[in-house]
Amino acid sequence: MNLKDHIGHVPDFPKPGILFYDISPLLAHPAAWKATVELLAGAVSRHKPDVLAGIESRGFLVAAPLALYMGLGFIMVRKRGKLPGPTQPYTYDLEYGSDTIEIQKGAIQPGQRVVLLDDLLATGGTLAAATELLRDVGADVRGAACIIELAFLKGRDRLSIPIDSAISYD
Ligand code: PRP
Ligand code: MG
Repeated sequence: MNLKDHIGHVPDFPKPGILFYDISPLLAHPAAWKATVELLAGAVSRHKPDVLAGIESRGFLVAAPLALYMGLGFIMVRKRGKLPGPTQPYTYDLEYGSDTIEIQKGAIQPGQRVVLLDDLLATGGTLAAATELLRDVGADVRGAACIIELAFLKGRDRLSIPIDSAISYD
């Protein structure tokens, strides 16, 4: 099965000049989605995680089913103000301005082995920030996985952890 057949390409979304890679057709195709989850589970299991962490919002679509499939717990890395406290924030720079992500304090015990999940690796800024957030609360961040990697943006070069992707665009 070629998973790329189930990725939509939407020009000029959400802004003119941006090509949007849409996972909706993949999620809507039971066999392709199952194959994706199985592929990612194989990659993630090598890290022997204690828990999986998903990044709001599309990362939740990957992390929650993967955690269930692997028999692991799932924690949420959310945008600021969405989680009841106390929370641990991490603020990082964007091209214009900054953004803050958070997790609930106590969601991870120090030394726990965590793997991060997101739908897409572009510049790597989101996954790099989530890695630092988890380290700030003492997590042992073993790696990351995503459905789509835009390899031409070289996002993995910004990461301090290994990352696996199910689909890569050169
Ligand atoms: C998208 C995507 C990744 C991130 C990748 O999320 O889901 O999380 O951007 O980009 P980067 O590697 O350059 O950081 P977005 O912030 O658009 O929000 P969403 O997941 O809530 O749709
Ligand atoms: Mg996202």
